[in-house]
Amino acid sequence: MSKRHHVTTTINGEESDFLCEPRQSLLEVLRDVLKLTGAKEGCNDGNCGACSVLVDGVLVDSCCVLGVEAEGKQIDTIEGMAVNGELHPLQKAFLEETGMQCGICTPGFLMSSKALLEKNPQPDEAEIRHWLAGNLCRCTGYDKIIRAVQRAANEMAGEKV
Ligand code: FES
Ligand code: FES
Repeated sequence: MSKRHHVTTTINGEESDFLCEPRQSLLEVLRDVLKLTGAKEGCNDGNCGACSVLVDGVLVDSCCVLGVEAEGKQIDTIEGMAVNGELHPLQKAFLEETGMQCGICTPGFLMSSKALLEKNPQPDEAEIRHWLAGNLCRCTGYDKIIRAVQRAANEMAGEKV
């Protein structure tokens, strides 16, 4: 076994530290070391988006980021999306529009959508479809997911008024 590195980071707003091997991906660390299993392993090569998390506010495929790269970073995962038991507007909208798909792809869709609305609070349909092109699901027509993101965007805009 190669030498393990001590990494200090912030995950969902809480300081965290862990030991990881240099070869371990952030996805492996989250799931296997920290037991945060919301991010899923689909392709493990940057194509499906099931492992989506935010690193310092930037959407990444955590299977393509090394655990050691988390040093000093702010990591946001699906586990931190609901706050104090209150669902995020996107989670509510996915439920209301039946945008939920399976447990493998849905966390990634939600994290990607969250990143989109933080960057662009009022995206049009084309922008949503383009943004979510990195989240693959062969089981959906995507329409309900698009409607859910639009609904959440409208509700979040209303909340800010
Ligand atoms: S598991 Fe990371 S992009 Fe598919
Ligand atoms: S991959 Fe999750 S429902 Fe299609």
